[in-house]
Amino acid sequence: LILVIDYGSQYNQLITRRIRDLGVYSELHNPSITMEEIRELNPQGIILSGGPRSVYAEDAFTVDPEVFELGVPVLGICYGMQLITQLNGGEVVPSNEKEFGPTEISLDINAPLFKGLAESEIVLMSHSDKVTHIPDSFKQIAYTPLCQYAGIKHEEKEIYGVQFHPESKHSKNGDTFLRNFIRDICGCHGEWSMDNFIDIEIDKIRQEVGDRKVLCAMSGGVDSSVTAVLMHRAIGDNLTCIFVDHGLLRKGEAEMVMEQFGEGFNMNIIKVDAKDRFLNKLKGVADPEQKRKIIGNEFIYVFDDEASKLEDVDFLAQGTLYTDIIESGTETATTIKSHHNVGGLPEDMQFKLLEPLNTLFKDEVRELGIELGIPEHLVWRQPFPGPGLGIRILGEITEEKLEIVRESDWILRDEIKKAGLDREIWQYFTVLPDIRSVGVMGDYRTYSHTIGIRAVTSIDGMTSEFAKIDWDVLERISKRLVNESEQINRVVYDVTSKPPATIEWE
Ligand code: XMP
Repeated sequence: LILVIDYGSQYNQLITRRIRDLGVYSELHNPSITMEEIRELNPQGIILSGGPRSVYAEDAFTVDPEVFELGVPVLGICYGMQLITQLNGGEVVPSNEKEFGPTEISLDINAPLFKGLAESEIVLMSHSDKVTHIPDSFKQIAYTPLCQYAGIKHEEKEIYGVQFHPESKHSKNGDTFLRNFIRDICGCHGEWSMDNFIDIEIDKIRQEVGDRKVLCAMSGGVDSSVTAVLMHRAIGDNLTCIFVDHGLLRKGEAEMVMEQFGEGFNMNIIKVDAKDRFLNKLKGVADPEQKRKIIGNEFIYVFDDEASKLEDVDFLAQGTLYTDIIESGTETATTIKSHHNVGGLPEDMQFKLLEPLNTLFKDEVRELGIELGIPEHLVWRQPFPGPGLGIRILGEITEEKLEIVRESDWILRDEIKKAGLDREIWQYFTVLPDIRSVGVMGDYRTYSHTIGIRAVTSIDGMTSEFAKIDWDVLERISKRLVNESEQINRVVYDVTSKPPATIEWE
């Protein structure tokens, strides 16, 4: 096991993810972890992660300096390196020249951490503090033009610090740094795989749940379907899935889910028609965060009602992924947006939550789905957010606007599929920005809605690029959208990446 201590960088779970890709089991823990707990975990290596704070701030997260005496290799990344410096008697100060983005770094290639790398590499720097004095027992092993101590190592012990982010894909050979640390320095040559994940999780679920009953919040999307099938494998008929039709679903969605999972997988699924309930609560609400919270709360109240009709349900399982948690804000990370299944949970919720996928990224969930025997065409469906079309209609949601988004989404999906792009593009959908503009059709003036097309490529949803769709395909989509809907007279294409935009518009 490699223990990663989480100081709040948006990319921290990526570290554990890269380690899992190397076939080694890894867990992310809060800085509140005690030495006793660390000893109990018995890690073969410890990584102190990045984070948004300053190590010299009053409320800074830290670590017990005893970790440096365990005889276990330690790697500090960014904030982690600054923490190593400060706790061992060096100095960290605010930097006048901040370094953000891909940067050329000079490496001492005799250091085991840099084995197989060139003397000069491109790495992602992202810091506003810097180390000015390293502790006595440490030496410099890397520098950049703006950062004298971009890498340090203890003279004798296997304690390393790097100011850059090897876990980021912007660090060109980032995997090599991590592989060197995990394999050569920590000596882990694990054989961890998704198969192990299934065994470990099924064991955990059975231990926690025993013979009690679980409800699963099933949206028909990839995450909740995989969660449901995993739970079903662990506890069989003690699982009941609740599929809520909140009126914000895509065209054809409800029928597909009931057919594929109810009949195909032979699971207990109850479909709840809650359209009026949701739309009433959302009436007049325009603020995106408020909409998300209302939808999140209402989901749970619907489950509560359904659960009270069943007997002895203690748990609610949902397909929360790591990305949902980190963007909703944690003890150490700041909030980007409240994903409906995280920030939206009501405080008086009666259920105990089970979130077996909450350490995974989307592509890992797909791998898990295949491993669990879910057909490819289901596993490879594009992600669809829990709040559904509700966050694709900017401002207040009305039935009329829902109809426009639903029909336009249907046309877009059809054309993307026909163009053979449905697997290549991570997500593609339409948004209704609630803008009307003037057009001309058959000699008449029109004053109708503008529809936005959002299509992005991504690996994990954390970052994305707008998809460079062929003009001809875009033209076909645009023509169909305007021709087949009287409500649309203008089509725009969103050409922003994430960051700075997010994938959804709200
Ligand atoms: P953003 O918009 O944050 O989206 O760049 C990243 C990924 O997450 C999906 N998303 C959600 N999924 N509940 C979900 O289940 C939510 O509240 C939610 N908000 C965004 C989004 O579709 C994209 O795949």
